[in-house]
Amino acid sequence: MRAHVFPDYETMSTAAADVVAQGLEENPSMVLMLPTGITPLGMCLRLVEMHRSEGLSFADATFFNLDEYLGLRPDHEASYHVYMKENLYGLIDADPAWIFVPDGAAPDPEAECERYEAAIVEAGGIDVCVLGLGRNGHIGFNEPGAPFDSLTRVVQLSESTRKVNAGDFEADRAPERAITVGMATIFGSKEVLLLASGTNKAGAVAAAVEGDVSESVPASMLKNHPNASLFLDEDAGSDLGRGVAG
Ligand code: GLP
Repeated sequence: MRAHVFPDYETMSTAAADVVAQGLEENPSMVLMLPTGITPLGMCLRLVEMHRSEGLSFADATFFNLDEYLGLRPDHEASYHVYMKENLYGLIDADPAWIFVPDGAAPDPEAECERYEAAIVEAGGIDVCVLGLGRNGHIGFNEPGAPFDSLTRVVQLSESTRKVNAGDFEADRAPERAITVGMATIFGSKEVLLLASGTNKAGAVAAAVEGDVSESVPASMLKNHPNASLFLDEDAGSDLGRGVAG
């Protein structure tokens, strides 16, 4: 995994948007996998800007989202469906028929996971997978301990993740479970771009980059990926080289 440290969040976000834009220019029908969270917002903003002012088109691309809370309908205001629509999909020329987000309200969640995994295979796999990083090293909603050979499935969220995400929910209670694309699904992507910003990610970054490849730090798996990059701002890289990786 190649690590690139950028001076700040904005330059990191612009560089991430450039990776996506370049991929689209080379292959307009590329298959993208995208995260939610605060980290990718700068990249999304820049992509929307490139769409509006430079004519960057997403019309032939396919989009998959990494995860969704279990139990939330697609129109729930804290759902990742709504989040992605408001921050990207609704602001570009993406074709709604080619936007996939796991359905957290599916009557049979296991069947929904199988359907989602099959849709990825049907699309020919993921060309570029952009990831955020949890403070505990999670990617998507693959929490520490997630098997590297896992596919899209229902997972239990850790208490720490629920606490970090609690503010988006009434009475500060985040759902206990989610649907996430699996570790093997992510690993099968042709290119992976992991983004991390801020000092609260510095420990997870150091553990992923400098610690052993271990299921206890999900992002460490990417060190074995043939084409993975880590884009960081200086704050997120502030624990690197200090020998503090656990
Ligand atoms: C959430 C999401 C992840 C995201 C991560 C980091 O729990 N499920 O896909 O990458 O947390 O979020 P943020 O970028 O807001 O720190």
